[in-house]
Amino acid sequence: MTVLILAGTGEARQIAQYCATRGIRAIGSFAGATRQPAKLSICTRHGGFGGADGFREYLKAHQITAIVDATHPFASNITRRSFEVAQEMGLPLLRFERPEWVPMAGDHWLTLTDETEAADHIKAGAVVFLATGRQSLSKFANLSHARLICRQIDQPDGEFPWSNGQYLIGRPPFSITDEEDLFRRLGVDVLVVKNAGGTASRTKLDAATNAGNFCVNDCQTVTQWGAKCSNPARG
Ligand SMILES: NC(=O)c1ccc[n+]([C@@H]2O[C@H](COP(=O)([O-])OP(=O)(O)OC[C@H]3O[C@@H](n4cnc5c(N)ncnc54)[C@H](OP(=O)(O)O)[C@@H]3O)[C@@H](O)[C@H]2O)c1
Repeated sequence: MTVLILAGTGEARQIAQYCATRGIRAIGSFAGATRQPAKLSICTRHGGFGGADGFREYLKAHQITAIVDATHPFASNITRRSFEVAQEMGLPLLRFERPEWVPMAGDHWLTLTDETEAADHIKAGAVVFLATGRQSLSKFANLSHARLICRQIDQPDGEFPWSNGQYLIGRPPFSITDEEDLFRRLGVDVLVVKNAGGTASRTKLDAATNAGNFCVNDCQTVTQWGAKCSNPARG
């Protein structure tokens, strides 16, 4: 038996560790989106498979007998495709799903259906912390009335695309205290997150609550993804 673990999350690392300690043969796979992802304790490959055909070929060539999809909740393409290919090839697939975050007492969240809507809710001059990653940065082009801080793991290849913002480099995990200190130091008014769920990256929400900010919480994509690509047992 050889398990393919589609990685990109802290939970994928834990599952890899579980396999390693129990002698389960497993291969980890990173998309290559982050230059130096935290290492897995199993043999690991990097980079896309080259579309659905490349994925099928890889599964056959490496005699993969089961797939664990522990990719990020917003990585909807790889999740959808893994589900479809696993069904087609008769391979068992386990999809790791996190319960999504829900607001706690004292939280002030706005839920958006698309990142571009954030501009409708953010006041002129506000300092906005974008914890949504580099990939969706272009969706905030209409926030020209605010100050933007976009956190990402790797050094950016180029300048920040607009004069009203900057990148901030940071590698998770981040503690609540560190997040709170950071938000206070930067004078953050609004935190924009993807509702990715889980405990590891929840610290920013707890810090925002403590610091008295509100969150613009993009959760629609999670809902769509959950409905379309949940584990095969639930259809
Ligand atoms: N989206 C987020 O907010 C987010 C946040 C944190 C981490 N990540 C991680 O970053 C990766 C890319 O995210 P995304 O949103 O761009 O994904 P995506 O849109 O679902 O996938 C795009 C393409 O990336 C490749 N890919 C994705 N995950 C892969 C993996 N684990 N191993 C090998 N190839 C993979 C596949 O390329 P081919 O078609 O060539 O096979 C896939 O078609 C994911 O693995 C995810 O876990 C994403």
